[in-house]
Parts: sequence; C-alpha cells; structure tokens
Amino acid sequence: MKSIFRFSNTISVFFLFFFPSNTVIFSTSKGVTAHDPYDPTGNITIKWDVMSWTPDGYVAVVDIINSQLYRTVQLPGWKLGWTWAKRDEIIWSAFGAQAIDQGNCSMYIGNIPHSCSKRPIIVDLSTDTPYNQRVDNCCRGGRLSSRYQAINKSTASFQISVGNAGTSNRTVRMPKNFTFIGGRAEYACGPAKRVRSSRFVTPDLRRTTQAFMTWKVVCTYKRANVANKSPSCCASLSSFDQRRKANCPTCSCGCRSKTCNTRSQGNPGIVPPLMKCTDHMCPASINWHILKPREKAAYTTVHVSISNFNYRMNYTDWTLLVNHPFINKLTRVVHANHKQFPNFKTAQLMWGMKHKNAIIPSSSRQGSTISWIMQLYKDNNSTNTNTTSTSSSCTKDWCAPTEIFFNGDRCLIASP
Ligand SMILES: *[C@@H]1O[C@H](CO)[C@@H](O)[C@H](O)[C@H]1NC(C)=O
Ligand SMILES: *[C@@H]1O[C@H](CO)[C@@H](O)[C@H](O)[C@H]1NC(C)=O
Ligand SMILES: *[C@@H]1O[C@H](CO)[C@@H](O)[C@H](O)[C@H]1NC(C)=O
Ligand SMILES: *[C@@H]1O[C@H](CO)[C@@H](O)[C@H](O)[C@H]1NC(C)=O
Ligand SMILES: *[C@@H]1O[C@H](CO)[C@@H](O)[C@H](O)[C@H]1NC(C)=O
Ligand SMILES: *[C@@H]1O[C@H](CO)[C@@H](O)[C@H](O)[C@H]1NC(C)=O
Ligand SMILES: *[C@@H]1O[C@H](CO)[C@@H](O)[C@H](O)[C@H]1NC(C)=O
Ligand SMILES: *[C@@H]1O[C@H](CO)[C@@H](O)[C@H](O)[C@H]1NC(C)=O
Ligand SMILES: *[C@@H]1O[C@H](CO)[C@@H](O)[C@H](O)[C@H]1NC(C)=O
Repeated sequence: MKSIFRFSNTISVFFLFFFPSNTVIFSTSKGVTAHDPYDPTGNITIKWDVMSWTPDGYVAVVDIINSQLYRTVQLPGWKLGWTWAKRDEIIWSAFGAQAIDQGNCSMYIGNIPHSCSKRPIIVDLSTDTPYNQRVDNCCRGGRLSSRYQAINKSTASFQISVGNAGTSNRTVRMPKNFTFIGGRAEYACGPAKRVRSSRFVTPDLRRTTQAFMTWKVVCTYKRANVANKSPSCCASLSSFDQRRKANCPTCSCGCRSKTCNTRSQGNPGIVPPLMKCTDHMCPASINWHILKPREKAAYTTVHVSISNFNYRMNYTDWTLLVNHPFINKLTRVVHANHKQFPNFKTAQLMWGMKHKNAIIPSSSRQGSTISWIMQLYKDNNSTNTNTTSTSSSCTKDWCAPTEIFFNGDRCLIASP
C-alpha cells in the first residue's frame, strides 16, 4: 500500500485529510507535511536588538523565542549559528551564552575577543552560571519550554558586544545564513529581516526605550525530513480484560540490527548498542491501557505509559499531544501536567511533573518507563464522536486515540 502513495502527492493529500489513519500518514511526502494543522504558525523567532553603539561596533541583545505550541527544545539544548556579513566582525564579549569556538584571534594582542570565528555557533550556559555572566532569561542549559506550557521559560536571551561591525545604522550589516538546532530537532531558518525597532518598558512602567535597530529571523521545524524517515515512536493498546489488544507492529520504526542489544546494560562489545532490541524497534513506545470501569462510572480510566528504549539518551522535558474523541473539558489527569489544546477540542497536551516523571531515563537505568492516569468522559453531546476521523478508531465501547505526538513527532498507532 505504501508504495502506491509514494507515486502521487495528490493522492496522499486526499488521504491525509479524509482518512487520517497512520499507515497513510507515514507514506506522505514533503509537500504535505510542511503544514502542521496543530500548530500552523509555530516557529522559533530570533530577535536581534542593537541596543547601543560602541567605538568599533555595537551591543546586541538576542532573544530566541519559541512560539511553538507543543514542541520544546530539550537537552542537549539549542545551538544558534550565523555567518558575519562583513566577515571581519568579532564578538568581544558574551553574557548569558557563549560561542563554542574562539576561532583565530591571533591578530589580537592584549584584549582578546570572545570569538573571532567567521561563523560563530552560540550555546546556552548552565543553570549554575555566576550572576555576573548572566542576563535575564538566560542559562537554562539550552532548554526551552513551548510557549503554551510556560511562556516565561520559552525565551532564551543573551547579550553580545560585536566589534569591527560598523557603528551606525547605515554601516552595520545583518548576519546571514542563520542556523538553529533545537536539542535533537533541526530547524530551517529564513533570512534576517529588518523590522520595527523593539520597544522596552522599564519595570516601573514609567519610561519606554527602544532598540536602535531590530532584525528578525524565523526558523521552522523541519518536518519534511522527519516524515520521510520511519516514525520514532509507536503506541500500543491494551485493556483490563485482554479482549482488546494491539501491539506495535514488527519493524514499526525499523528492524533489528547490530545497533540493538537485549541485555539490559548491554555488553558494549566493539560497537556499543544504541537501543534495546524490541520487535517494533521504536526508540520510544506509548502504551494506552484501559482500566476496569467502576460500576456506573460516566468515564473511562486510562493508564498511559511511555518507555524509553535508548541506552544512551534520557528524554528530558518530554511532551505528549493526544487527540482522542473522549478528551474534553472534563478530562482529569493524575500525575502529569496537562492543558487543553487550543483549536482542537479533543486534544490535550501532556508533560511530566518535575521530580516525578519529567525525565524518562535511558533504558540502561532503572525506571525507563513512566506513567500516569487519565479519566476520559464521553461527551453526551457527541458532536466530536461523529467525525470521520473518530469513527475509524472507535467501536461501540472502545476508542483508541486518533493521533499521538511524542516530543512533536507523530507516533504510529497500532490498529485494534
Ligand atoms: C512566527 O510566530 C509568530 C508568533 O506566533 C507569528 O506572529 C508569526 O506570524 C510566525 N511567523 C511565521 C512565518 O509563521
Ligand atoms: C590566523 O590569522 C592570521 C592573520 O589573520 C593568519 O596569518 C594565520 O595563518 C591564521 N591562522 C590559522 C591557523 O588559520
Ligand atoms: C512565570 O511568570 C509568572 C507570572 O509572571 C510568575 O508568577 C511565575 O513565577 C513565573 N515562573 C517562572 C518559572 O519564572
Ligand atoms: C538611521 O538613523 C537616523 C537617525 O536616527 C535616521 O534618520 C535614518 O533614517 C536611519 N537610517 C536608516 C537606514 O535606518
Ligand atoms: C550556511 O551554513 C551552512 C552550515 O555551515 C553551510 O552548509 C551552507 O553552505 C551555508 N550557506 C550559505 C549560503 O552560506
Ligand atoms: C541520564 O540521566 C542520568 C541521571 O540524571 C545521568 O547520570 C546520565 O548521565 C544521563 N545520561 C545521558 C546519556 O545523558
Ligand atoms: C452539552 O450541551 C449542553 C447544552 O448545549 C451544555 O450545557 C453542556 O455543557 C454540553 N456538555 C458537554 C460535556 O460539552
Ligand atoms: C452524560 O449523561 C449522563 C446521563 O444523563 C450523565 O450522568 C453524565 O454526567 C453525562 N456526562 C457528561 C460528560 O455530561
Ligand atoms: C452524525 O452523523 C450523522 C450522519 O452522518 C448526521 O446525520 C448527524 O446529524 C450527525 N450528528 C451530529 C451531532 O453531528
């Protein structure tokens, strides 16, 4: 079936909208996946404010704003790169972040710049950075929350003093060729554009100041690449009485190879295994388990668990976006954070609780499966159980989630 859809974009577009079943979605090609219906304008915006001129350049405050609704930037954190437009620019000093490479500063004697690289790559500082190297909104080890989860942890800022740069709005040049890596996710950045200067209000609200110049760059998640690869997660279904059960299909995310190992710690050998061997070979799997209903209860209780099969990677700040016909205002979640997703009445965004299940440890450690409980209420008004998307996954008394995204990537859902 898959090979047929590869031939025609038009056909896969048709099926994506009319039969959102998972087999079809994974055979779609670039054009389709560029648009994310859950977050059509989601992006990471880089805002570059020139705050003051210096004898040989300027001081800039750079903000990295994650306005995505459900994609976070996880460890190992963000990396922002660019190419200097005049090629001679240098970074004299940096606060709240650092360039990973000093580059060739052999021309400088005495006062040595922070970086002379033609193509600096900037990373965040750790949470224990001393006060005198910080700026507001810095130093979270490169992690960024999504704007929808926690707006004040969704922006990272740093300040740089740029030399050899031009000292007026007519002589400076915007850097080119921005690149952004968000943890393990890649983004595609557009060109820098001059926009209206940012305005700032002092804390006492009595004075407004403004940047001398402001540039913006918009970076979007590279979905196309992900969709062409196999999925990175799958969801299995089970129930208390074993009547309903659907395992992740064999080779859901790939097939067994030398990169996996079944021994819990793994015998490293010459090439240490990256993953625990499973039939599905997904680095992460989600189990949706229906618990026995209480008598006359108006709700269904589901035990949701996520397992990490990577040997050398913890999932930090994971998110799970679930679309299920019974998700509504009444949904209760115990032992995880959750928030109703905007514009999708039947979707909830879920993430872990600090010190409890916000980290899914690697498979070589104890507790590489985390879980929580959800109560789902069947909506009596049933406008949302009547759509094509739900009828395909619902039988009389049993509904599977229609879509699940783990860390922003769509999971394959086993068919009951
Ligand atoms: C980027 O996100 C901002 C904030 O949500 C939005 O205003 C803007 O339109 C987005 N840009 C693009 C190109 O999607
Ligand atoms: C560093 O720059 C100097 C002068 O700009 C040049 O002579 C030297 O070859 C460079 N060194 C390296 C390792 O590129
Ligand atoms: C986020 O902002 C709110 C309101 O400004 C504040 O109450 C809260 O403490 C902030 N949280 C963090 C983690 O800074
Ligand atoms: C540069 O700044 C001056 C004075 O602030 C202003 O009059 C001029 O329009 C600016 N030029 C550009 C290209 O922004
Ligand atoms: C932009 O930077 C990337 C990464 O270093 C590089 O591969 C690419 O060739 C650059 N593109 C341009 C137009 O400079
Ligand atoms: C995973 O987390 C544990 C505990 O915090 C840490 O010791 C370990 O180094 C982490 N593993 C990786 C690969 O980051
Ligand atoms: C069902 O519809 C009624 C009336 O329109 C409304 O008051 C009630 O809140 C709805 N119930 C749910 C679960 O949405
Ligand atoms: C649905 O209707 C039943 C019986 O009328 C009622 O007990 C239950 O609370 C209702 N559920 C919701 C979600 O409104
Ligand atoms: C459910 O679907 C049927 C047939 O498609 C339609 O007649 C009915 O009006 C729909 N009900 C609701 C509540 O949308």
